[in-house]
Amino acid sequence: MPFTVAIDGPAAAGKGTISRAVAAHFGFRHLDTGLLYRATGARVIAGEEPLAAAQALVPEDLDRQGLRTAAVADAASKVAAIPEVRAALLAFQRQFARLGAGAVLDGRDIGTVVCPEAEVKLFVTASPEIRARRRFDELRADGDDTDFETVLADVRARDDRDAGRADAPMRAAEDAVVIDTTELDIDAAVARAVEAVSARY
Ligand code: C5P
Repeated sequence: MPFTVAIDGPAAAGKGTISRAVAAHFGFRHLDTGLLYRATGARVIAGEEPLAAAQALVPEDLDRQGLRTAAVADAASKVAAIPEVRAALLAFQRQFARLGAGAVLDGRDIGTVVCPEAEVKLFVTASPEIRARRRFDELRADGDDTDFETVLADVRARDDRDAGRADAPMRAAEDAVVIDTTELDIDAAVARAVEAVSARY
């Protein structure tokens, strides 16, 4: 099994940026597993049944436009609560971890379910308010005139659904290094992640 880095945590905590930076630093491949759930959610919005949608995914689905919207995120976290959907997406994620010199997978259950044997596990988190603020600023920059309270309510609803589901709930693995980015800028957070990987690699 190649060297595996599992990075979990809630939305907008900095997980994606940290994952890409760690992968680039060590020359590892990177899989954003949220895209699998988002692509499944997008197919459900288009009228497919959740399990059939997950089973029908092809790599091109992950490159589709429109997967980053709030509506798709919401659909993603709903399909993600269905055990059969999670099971259908598991083999692809484990296969990804098996290829190449090393792999970074980021999501909600990588360190606990998908790759419990990962050499390094990180749990990247931050307060709901600061995560909502970051998301709000991004949306505003993109010309979306949503208000902060709506974004905060969305963040909390998705956290509750992801942490509260029975199958593979979002949580830090017991052996995860927790990186709280509430008061940490992204460069400092990346440095901490690189340091944690360097200690084992
Ligand atoms: O990380 P991202 O915001 O793209 O994830 C979208 C949704 O997909 C999450 O809210 C969660 O419900 C689901 N997800 C999951 N397990 C993963 C990755 C994402 O349940 N490993």
